[in-house]
Amino acid sequence: MTDLLSRIEKRDAHVCVIGLGYVGLPLAVAFAEAGFRVTGLDVDSSKVDAINAASSYIPDITTERVREQVDAGRLDATTDAEILAKVDTAHICVPTPLSKTRDPDISYLVVAGEQAAAHVHAGMLIVLESTTYPGTTEEVLAPRLAESGLELGKDYHLAFSPERIDPGNPTFTLENTPKVLGGMTPECTRVAAALYGTIVSEVHEMTSPAAAELVKLLENTFRSVNIGLANEMALMCDRMGIDTWEVIHAAATKPFGFMPFFPGPGLGGHCIPVDPLYLTWKARTLNYRARLVETAAEINAGMPEYVVEKVAGALNDHEKSVRGSRILMVGVAYKRDIDDTRESPALDVMRLLQDRGALVDYADPWVPRLTPAQGVLADQDSIEGLPEVCAEYDCVVVGTDHTDIDWPGVLAAAVLVVDTRNVANGLTTPNVVRI
Ligand SMILES: NC(=O)c1ccc[n+]([C@@H]2O[C@H](COP(=O)([O-])OP(=O)(O)OC[C@H]3O[C@@H](n4cnc5c(N)ncnc54)[C@H](O)[C@@H]3O)[C@@H](O)[C@H]2O)c1
Repeated sequence: MTDLLSRIEKRDAHVCVIGLGYVGLPLAVAFAEAGFRVTGLDVDSSKVDAINAASSYIPDITTERVREQVDAGRLDATTDAEILAKVDTAHICVPTPLSKTRDPDISYLVVAGEQAAAHVHAGMLIVLESTTYPGTTEEVLAPRLAESGLELGKDYHLAFSPERIDPGNPTFTLENTPKVLGGMTPECTRVAAALYGTIVSEVHEMTSPAAAELVKLLENTFRSVNIGLANEMALMCDRMGIDTWEVIHAAATKPFGFMPFFPGPGLGGHCIPVDPLYLTWKARTLNYRARLVETAAEINAGMPEYVVEKVAGALNDHEKSVRGSRILMVGVAYKRDIDDTRESPALDVMRLLQDRGALVDYADPWVPRLTPAQGVLADQDSIEGLPEVCAEYDCVVVGTDHTDIDWPGVLAAAVLVVDTRNVANGLTTPNVVRI
């Protein structure tokens, strides 16, 4: 293994990133930029073809950055898992969604782990980056790798290091966000830390993969619970006739002991709505019900219905029914300035309104097309002409506050706006209903 350490130091280790999505591609590019030869492995041939054609499909990674590494011969991609027999390190970045019953679905991770196990060889380092419940590295990956007969911590190394990237965040990137890391043995931690130290400013070493797995779940459960509190404040403020936003902004003037979170139409993306359920599932296997976490998830999951009720109420005030009303959703990605619609509550709002008979269009410069696979009734294209087009609708629902949308224009034309987040703060028009 000293051989791998010296290859890391000399930047001549061959790195493989398994899963070239929102997490895997930035990681692959970072290793290539640090001077390593990197091969991305993905089952999706369109992503592999894009990388080999030196093109990016992830908004945070420019095509120029990909092209520079591909042209330098440091970055390529393949669909052939045989590559794992030749590389020095493998980083598993595959999806960890929920099943239909809202339990952890680690099937992608198991397949990737089996591929790694089939090709593990002396001198290899394997790191799991996918978010998962505590114990996965030790209970799911380690036994499969052990079938190789190689000795863990000596012949090969295994660690968990959660990805913390925040898509669309230009301030905190992979490079300047500390990387938490827990190896199966102290030597596993040492080798993995040496590798990650070449691409991030700080590596925070932990005593086990399970503890590192729980760090990621704590971070995202913290968000879910606090957003749940902000949403519950909104539900209570609605009954009290008090503006939640005014209250939260005032509380945030306290320079200590308070951190503002804001209400919204629910949780979106691959992480915040999903990860707390990995934690509650694990707790349930140990006969513990994580009540606080479950309640927050329940409140957050109820927010799209609440938004629809607000829309119905506002239309009612204008003597209109939801059925037959023309409604425009502005912004359908789960947060600003990204193209990711996974778990986006805006899509739930859209579908609930469609189910009630509303005629719903949407406008989102980042999401040109929606399909039934994303939850809407039929294929739909993003409409053009913001903000003027708002005047043609009975109601405008603001789902996500993209910075490249003319918000004052939208607000001026809208009959109703909900979830205006930061953009509409301080903007008051009689037409605006905030949640
Ligand atoms: N998106 C985020 O902001 C974010 C942030 C931190 C952590 N995470 C976690 O990182 C993991 C990956 O998330 P993502 O957003 O990058 O997912 P993604 O869907 O964007 O990418 C995953 C990729 O893995 C590929 N894949 C699936 N099975 C494979 C296999 N057996 N071999 C090779 N490739 C395979 C898919 O084709 C896809 O390209 C998840 O556990 C997620 O929770 C995501």
